[in-house]
Amino acid sequence: MSNIAILEIDGKKYEFPVIVGTENEVAIDINKLRGETGAITIDPGYKNSGSCTSNITFLDGEQGILRYRGYSIEDLAEKSNFLEVAYLLIFGELPTAAQIEKFENDIRKYTLVNEEMKNIIDGFPRTAHPMGVLASLTSALTAFNPKSVNVDNEKEMYEAVCKTMAKFLVIATWTYRKNMGYPLNYYDNTKGYVENFMRLMFELPTGPYKMNPVVVNALDKLFILHADHEQNCSTSTVRMVGSSHAGLFASISSGVSALWGPLHGGANQAVLEMLEAIQKDGGDVEKFLAKAKDKNDPFRLMGFGHRVYKNFDPRARIIKKAADEVLADLGVDDPVLDIAKKLEKAALEDEYFKSRNLYPNVDFYSGIIYRAMGIPTEMFTVLFAIGRLPGWIAQWKEMRVNKEPIGRPRQVYTGSPLRDFTDINNR
Ligand code: ACO
Repeated sequence: MSNIAILEIDGKKYEFPVIVGTENEVAIDINKLRGETGAITIDPGYKNSGSCTSNITFLDGEQGILRYRGYSIEDLAEKSNFLEVAYLLIFGELPTAAQIEKFENDIRKYTLVNEEMKNIIDGFPRTAHPMGVLASLTSALTAFNPKSVNVDNEKEMYEAVCKTMAKFLVIATWTYRKNMGYPLNYYDNTKGYVENFMRLMFELPTGPYKMNPVVVNALDKLFILHADHEQNCSTSTVRMVGSSHAGLFASISSGVSALWGPLHGGANQAVLEMLEAIQKDGGDVEKFLAKAKDKNDPFRLMGFGHRVYKNFDPRARIIKKAADEVLADLGVDDPVLDIAKKLEKAALEDEYFKSRNLYPNVDFYSGIIYRAMGIPTEMFTVLFAIGRLPGWIAQWKEMRVNKEPIGRPRQVYTGSPLRDFTDINNR
């Protein structure tokens, strides 16, 4: 591969450097394109555009590879745990035993959330969507932590990481408690991070909460699988907002909003709503497959297809196994989950889906597991956000430490050319 790309415009040739990543990904560096040629590139949806170089996550959509800091997702899901993976993503290396113990204890220092945050939650109607509430609460944390972190100061950055990991988990579960009308719960510093998620959600003052290790283990895995996915929509949003030097909480809050959309993290909720709609309609899976294939029908099979995984989603493979284990352990008998299995089988055998490489993605199975765990559908994307938090933090930190410039894309204007102002009486 040549290390120079040549572009010809109006008979004039321009040379641009070619960058090759550690996994041989090739990119043409067009930094000087506009300055030298006056032209820009256009790439709606950024299907061909790299926004940065990054050391965090590698994925190869064609081969179904996902790695965090060089470690395969399969290895991490099997051998590691969520906090360890969070540490790896954010600080670059797997922690030693002493480092992970310290990390967990340092997170515990920040698990109390300012009581005044409760006044903010009280302002929301109980029917408010938890993702909307979570985005607002995350942003509100800025008010209680106004000092913006000095990213070049390792100690300050480390404290900001611990604080964000601690408080985000608590407020995420508060969105559910509010919705249910339950008293807001506090983190128990004698228990683990993922165990605390289950407690914060489901433990009631009226009696002890019985932890199911199979469920905690599956949830830990799910969080690992969601922890980072390089420059996806929400992560790019976090980096973009952070590039203006907005604070960590404000940037994460914008990531939550981006994740909420049904074409991104909101898909896991959309999957369950789709399955429920199929059940309500009589359970005819083939009818919905036909709708998904009909180009005159906007319906899409939620939880199928992926922008980058055009072969298979490696996370979906791992999670399918976890889903089978959880369903078997909990002995769930749920007609909606039967529909999910039928739909998966029918779509995998269907020519339309096969020819377009449309496989079940991570959201298809995560929705199924969450439902079996008794987590309400509206909370599904909140769980995705908890899992994705370390990735957002890691990417924000990398962007700031690398001193990346403010994100500010260009455009090609296609509106009206200059025209005279028309007086209101003559319009
Ligand atoms: N159901 C039916 N047809 C589909 C689906 C689907 N879920 N997904 C893609 N297609 C078809 C398209 O109609 C198109 O067909 P054509 O070639 O005949 O025109 C072809 O497959 C390619 O689809 P694109 O929209 O070009 O694929 P893109 O990469 O832009 O979109 C996306 C990926 C948004 C994920 C899409 O597959 C989709 O909408 N899926 C459902 C929503 C979903 O599950 N999102 C979760 C993504 S994973 C995540 O965020 C963690």
